[in-house]
Amino acid sequence: MFNDRSSLLAHLATRRSGKARDMVAPGPDARALHEIIALALRTPDHGKLAPWRIVTVAAEQREALATLLKRSWVKENPGAAGLDLSALDQFAHQAPTLLVLLSTPVPGSKIPVWEQQMSAGAVGMNLLHAAHAHGFVGSWLTGWAAYSAEVAAAFGAGDGDTIVGYFFLGTASRDLDERPRPDYDDVVRSWEI
Ligand SMILES: Cc1cc2nc3c(=O)[nH]c(=O)nc-3n(C[C@H](O)[C@H](O)[C@H](O)COP(=O)(O)O)c2cc1C
Repeated sequence: MFNDRSSLLAHLATRRSGKARDMVAPGPDARALHEIIALALRTPDHGKLAPWRIVTVAAEQREALATLLKRSWVKENPGAAGLDLSALDQFAHQAPTLLVLLSTPVPGSKIPVWEQQMSAGAVGMNLLHAAHAHGFVGSWLTGWAAYSAEVAAAFGAGDGDTIVGYFFLGTASRDLDERPRPDYDDVVRSWEI
């Protein structure tokens, strides 16, 4: 994709998340999605444990996702109705493409769980970069749907596994403005010893 260094640098300098609810078709087709995921899996991984999993959610499975979210939410919040449930419907149906990324640390490994979880986060960042490089916009969302044990289990999470995030991909319906970034000097300093 990048035929010179400046285009790679431009990619890194311009990638932005889009709002999932504003994403429109097309999303990546099957081949592009496969490439995006394959690129994302090229991620630093101490011990070569591959402590992450990606679950693809097909367009025709969005209604099942909405049902799952609403059922689990009502179980946790008896009597919930109305706006709560329509927000979950909206969440499940937004954007053309949806991936769920899980952190699946290998139990008993000598590699600390924290390192395995960081590697899963790095897969997430790589997903956003790879989607952008393919001309799509991405959004990494968590919220309640990522922290519900019942929802996580439905995506195959076992003990110690967590949902890193929902990755919505699609086409931006409008230009994305840059957002404020931290001041370099606020977050970077020379080591003083
Ligand atoms: C782990 C994680 C979870 C996030 N969850 C949410 C979320 O639930 N809702 C939300 O509006 N933004 C969430 N964000 C923020 C957006 O994904 C994104 O960082 C923000 O919109 C700007 O991103 P950009 O710097 O890529 O443009 C999350 C970010 C991370 C890293």
